[in-house]
Amino acid sequence: MALDTEQLVSTTGRTRSADGLQTREAGSLSAQIRSLCKKLNAVILAHNYQVPEIQEVADFVGDSLGLSQQAAGTSADVIVFCGVHFMAETAKILNPGKTVILPDRDAGCSLEESCPANQLAEFQAEHPNCYTIAYINCSAEVKALSDVICTSGNAVKIVESAPKDREILFVPDENLGAWVQEKVQRPMTLWKGFCYAHVEFTHRSMIRIREEFPEAQIVAHPECTKSVRLLADEICSTEKMIGFCRDHPAKEFIIATESGMLHRLEKECPGKKFIPAPTDKCPCNECKYMKMNTLEKLRDCMANLSPEVVLDADISERALLPIQRMLEVSAR
Ligand code: 13P
Ligand code: SF4
Repeated sequence: MALDTEQLVSTTGRTRSADGLQTREAGSLSAQIRSLCKKLNAVILAHNYQVPEIQEVADFVGDSLGLSQQAAGTSADVIVFCGVHFMAETAKILNPGKTVILPDRDAGCSLEESCPANQLAEFQAEHPNCYTIAYINCSAEVKALSDVICTSGNAVKIVESAPKDREILFVPDENLGAWVQEKVQRPMTLWKGFCYAHVEFTHRSMIRIREEFPEAQIVAHPECTKSVRLLADEICSTEKMIGFCRDHPAKEFIIATESGMLHRLEKECPGKKFIPAPTDKCPCNECKYMKMNTLEKLRDCMANLSPEVVLDADISERALLPIQRMLEVSAR
C-alpha cells in the first residue's frame, strides 16, 4: 500500500529543511498531502501546538480531548496524527483495526516519561484503595493501569465523578493535579511529574510581560506552576483558550502555553492581539517534541505509511476502558 515518494515529489524536487520551506514548496507539499489523504481515505488530526502549515492542511485541529473525540468517531481507514506519540497511541487504542501513523516516532512528552508503568504499579500495590486518574499525557501501559483518563479540558469533571469512597491518585502532572484539587476541594495524591515546557514560565517572567501589557488578560494552561497560575485571569485547556479570548471584551491577551497556540487564536479571533508569554530565557516557549513534526515528514509518513503505531493487544484492550470512561463522563 506504500506509495512512491519520489513520484509524489517529481514535479517540485526534494524540499530543503523544514525551516527553509518557501511558501510555494509548502503549498506543493500540502497539495501532495491532500491528494494522499484522498487516496488512503485518511484523516489528519493535528494538535493546537503544531506548526501553522500543518494546522492548515489538517482535517481537524484541537486539544487532546477534541482529538480523542475525533479519533473515536472517524470513519477514515488511516488516522494521521500530528501531535506527540501518546496522542497517536490513544487514537490507536480507540481504533485497533485502523492504521495510525505519525510524522515522527520520536515526538515524545516529558510528562509521559515522568511516570514509568512499573513505578505506578508498585505504588498501586502499596495503596490498594487508590482510584487512579491519569492525565492523557502518559503511555498506553500507564493508561492500562488506570481507572479513568482525563485531559486538561475535562479534568475537573472527571475528578468530580470519581467514587467518593476511594483515595484519588492523580498521575503524572503535579501542576494540573494541584489546580484540579483547588477547584474540586478533594484530597488527592499527586504524582511528581511536570511538563518541561510549561514550567519554564515563571512568576518573574509573567510579571515582566504584564508590566509591558498592563491591559492584557493573562490566559494560562493548567500545566503551568502555581506561581504562574496565581497571576492568570483564566486557566484552561488549549481549546477553551479560543472560546475565552473570542468572547472576552479585552483586545490583548498574554498566552502562557506553547506558542503554536497563537496561530488559531489569531485566525479565529480577528482584531485581537496575542502576546506569547515569555520565559526567563526566551520571548516565547516551544515544545521541542511538538515541533519535531514538519510538513515534509507528514507527507513522507503518508507516502510510506510509516512510522505506524503498533500496540500490544492486551495493553491496548486494558487501556481502552479508562479512555471510554473519560469519553462517557465528558459527554454528560
Ligand atoms: P491540551 O489538551 O490543553 O491541548 O494540552 C495538551 C498538552 O500537551 C499541553 O501541553
Ligand atoms: Fe508534553 Fe509539555 Fe510538550 Fe505538552 S508541551 S506535549 S505536556 S512536553
